[in-house]
Amino acid sequence: MSTTVEHDVAGAVARIADAKPGFTPRVGLVLGSGLAGLADKVEDGIAVPFGDLPGFPEPSVAGHGGELLLGTLGGQPVACLRGRAHYYEHGRADAMKVPVRALRGAGCEIVVLTNAAGSTRQGMGPGSLMLLADHINFSGNHPLIGESGNDRFVSLSEVYDRALRQNMADAAAALDLALHQGVYMWFSGPSFETPAEIRAAQILGADAVGMSTVPEAILARHCGMRVVAISNITNLAAGLSEEELSHAMTLEMAQEGAAALTRLVPAFMESL
Ligand code: HPA
Repeated sequence: MSTTVEHDVAGAVARIADAKPGFTPRVGLVLGSGLAGLADKVEDGIAVPFGDLPGFPEPSVAGHGGELLLGTLGGQPVACLRGRAHYYEHGRADAMKVPVRALRGAGCEIVVLTNAAGSTRQGMGPGSLMLLADHINFSGNHPLIGESGNDRFVSLSEVYDRALRQNMADAAAALDLALHQGVYMWFSGPSFETPAEIRAAQILGADAVGMSTVPEAILARHCGMRVVAISNITNLAAGLSEEELSHAMTLEMAQEGAAALTRLVPAFMESL
């Protein structure tokens, strides 16, 4: 397994180098549901379909493959993943192992993770942005299960880099954008949570819930990247509003936060 991973990472890194010779991305960017528009801000972009990158996610909806966009955002050389794999697609918590390591192998020192999430706080409704201060993984799953070597015992004392969070908070303040900070709790999906699960999440200290990001953040820390992550709040979590939760509704409600993120992320890049 690990040799296949290493082989795929090496192949993907070589393909990335071929796609844009002389270009070394410094920041990786993973775009969550409803956030693909941020990629339109990338200048001088060269797109590499995931299908050309070994070990990258296969399209989960026919005809809608993801791509890796190499270019410049806010003055930084970036590698932007338009699309990601989720645990719920195949039951593999390590589904993003090759893409995350390929970002690192291609040169990225920093990764910016974005996602759509539900809020457990009435005061942080749809359209809000939440910077992840920390996360809770009580899913029973972990992207590093099966790894060998002592570096698998990675410290998660500060998954979300304090200095980068400050950069993001400063960028938001300069743009007059409200930016919450809180704890994200990972659920497997693909169903939404039950109201009882959301009450439990509140008691445990979760401010937002979602189905992604945590595996990628752990994988990125394991390979030495600094991580910053933002949730685009698309809904109040189950039981906290009358609204019926659906994927269509989360995509629709992603618009407002996506517009704010499209301003915030380039400003953050400029601050690096
Ligand atoms: N729960 C889990 N994932 C989500 C939600 C939610 O309420 N909203 C958007 N992604």
